[in-house]
Amino acid sequence: MKAVHAQNPAMKGSGRHRGIGGAASRRRAPVRLKTARGRKISSTLWLSRQLNDPYVAAAAAEGFRSRAAYKLLQLDEKFRLLRPGLRVVDLGAAPGGWSQVAARKTGLGKNPRARLVAMDLLKMDPIPGAVVLQGDFTGEDAPERIKKALDGRAGLVLSDMAASATGHKGTDHLRILALAELAHAFASEVLDKDGAFVCKLFQGGGEGAFMKSLKASFAEVRYAKPTASRGESAETYLVARGFRG
Ligand SMILES: C[S@@+](CC[C@H](N)C(=O)[O-])C[C@H]1O[C@@H](n2cnc3c(N)ncnc32)[C@H](O)[C@@H]1O
Repeated sequence: MKAVHAQNPAMKGSGRHRGIGGAASRRRAPVRLKTARGRKISSTLWLSRQLNDPYVAAAAAEGFRSRAAYKLLQLDEKFRLLRPGLRVVDLGAAPGGWSQVAARKTGLGKNPRARLVAMDLLKMDPIPGAVVLQGDFTGEDAPERIKKALDGRAGLVLSDMAASATGHKGTDHLRILALAELAHAFASEVLDKDGAFVCKLFQGGGEGAFMKSLKASFAEVRYAKPTASRGESAETYLVARGFRG
């Protein structure tokens, strides 16, 4: 994988980059698909979107396991979340794009202070230097397993967890909110003072109480929609910094 900062596409309005950088920025002629017999319209649309997505192409060119890597790069560009020697927990980590970015930016394996513990329901390929746990974060034993692997406190807790979409907006919103609340409760147990927490949400209007509890634990809480997050998706991120301890 090349230096992660070299290909970091822009956060909307950050002004740091003009458009998407490197591999993601090269404009390619759009790939048009003929509707194949036997392929559902939804599959054709998905395939067409994948083939024409600059972040999918960039991730493949740069060795990232997922296009999601660019979301964390863009959040980091804007909020300065990652630094050498940081101890990080990555929840909902598979296939591992965010973990790859965190590993590179913290100097995992080279910087003796850096640590990365990743968890996902799904099996995930190893990340050199990281502890990768397979398990359900909502399971009773999950927090203890992560704490044991972390062996100390963390400077950053990330949650990109999302259950499979049901297609019902309200249900998906409530389900991801429940995961984010659990992740916040866990972060409150392991974060260093001044640490940061990032979680994914699907917009839906039910996050008032959650925002309130985040604001009680952190000095600053902001919504962020990285450019790599598809515009048509209800996905958004909450970035909380300055854990009060
Ligand atoms: C959008 S993907 C994460 C992508 C990842 N950040 C990356 O960069 O490759 C969401 C992940 O959340 C995981 N997930 C959902 N519910 C979970 C749970 N209860 N415990 C652990 N992982 C969960 C899913 O298995 C899925 O891999």
